Amino acid sequence: MNILITGGAGFIGSHVVRRLVNKYPYDKIINLDALTYAGNLENLKDIESKSNYTFVKGDIGDETLVDDIFKKYQITHVVHLAAESHVDRSIKDPLIFLKTNILGTANLLQVAKKHWADDYAGKLFYHISTDEVYGSLDMGTDLFTEETPYDPRSPYSASKASSDHLVRAFYHTYHMPVVISNCSNNYGPNHFPEKLIPLFINNIIQKKPLPVYGKGENVRDWLYVEDHARAIDIILHKGKPGETYNIGGHNEWTNIGLVSLVCDIMDKKLGRLAGESRNLITYVTDRAGHDLRYAIDASKIKNELAWVPHETFETGIEKTIDWYLANETWLKNVTSGAYQAYYDKMYH
Ligand code: NAD
Ligand code: TYD
Repeated sequence: MNILITGGAGFIGSHVVRRLVNKYPYDKIINLDALTYAGNLENLKDIESKSNYTFVKGDIGDETLVDDIFKKYQITHVVHLAAESHVDRSIKDPLIFLKTNILGTANLLQVAKKHWADDYAGKLFYHISTDEVYGSLDMGTDLFTEETPYDPRSPYSASKASSDHLVRAFYHTYHMPVVISNCSNNYGPNHFPEKLIPLFINNIIQKKPLPVYGKGENVRDWLYVEDHARAIDIILHKGKPGETYNIGGHNEWTNIGLVSLVCDIMDKKLGRLAGESRNLITYVTDRAGHDLRYAIDASKIKNELAWVPHETFETGIEKTIDWYLANETWLKNVTSGAYQAYYDKMYH
């Protein structure tokens, strides 16, 4: 397989690239990433010299570049993760979300069609999406299934929903083999410290306030990033074209419950007094249009592809905190922007 992975220098993408490069030495892995503020090649230091791995810096919306990559590497599979991914940024500046997430996806589909349409055998366009396309659940026991109607409510989720629709349109209209997965909130190493868990770990280390939106009662379903990367590997190899798979951890937490737990674990690890970090919790104005609850029914992927999460939340959150404590230079570099010099040093 000659696999084009987009967004491989980001949080989830870096775990997917590492996994596929190490596990499939006879496949070619091409990582196309624009290295925005969220893309960091330091995430892939350990595999950058592997012979089955190539990095290309560029925009998924660049038709000439994507066309050249398809030609040069005879791409057979696309694993599409590149996106603008932070809800708060989408509220402040939606247009870049539409450009990257919708038009960028459209460009990839269009180029894939051009190269594959004569013979779709052995080809697959795999689009990675989010559970946020389904909207918001009430408190209770309802879960998002693959049949839940789309109801995106933030500019981010609306842009991801649009890209999902485009991918399905290429399946129905042009018979392109596509597969989509919609995953719940990920956490783990390499997560950019603007999202809840890494932001709060970083702030606790620095004894800065922990801004909890609203009353902290919103619920998210958290999945360890390696479990997501393994699900992506399985879907890439065994997923049925035309299908959608929901991926989730069956691991719901209110934000305040989660934050309190992270505070308590970190107090112990940092030798601080019990309750010291909880004192940093500061309730702030709620996010505009803040979705109340996300929770995934992951029984389809369990029953059809035998995927279940391996990591429990207790072990996953501990590993995550340990990783951030052991990688303070990574944290300092990404928060100061210094990591962006890495590409110039390594690749030019
Ligand atoms: P991220 O923001 O950490 O990484 C995104 C990557 O895409 C970065 O490396 C960035 O440089 C790259 N990129 C952005 N715009 C680009 C462009 N125009 N051209 C090429 N590369 C570009 O995101 P993430 O959290 O790793 O999410 C990856 C994918 O998974 C996204 O599609 C996201 O919607 C989806 N997803 C994320 C979560 C989550 O909890 N983080 C959950 C479900 C689905
Ligand atoms: P986030 O990590 O941004 O993921 P998403 O919005 O995609 O679910 O936020 C997770 C939850 O944490 C969400 O309910 C918003 C909340 N949150 C805060 O309370 N404070 C913060 O500083 C951030 C970034 C998020």
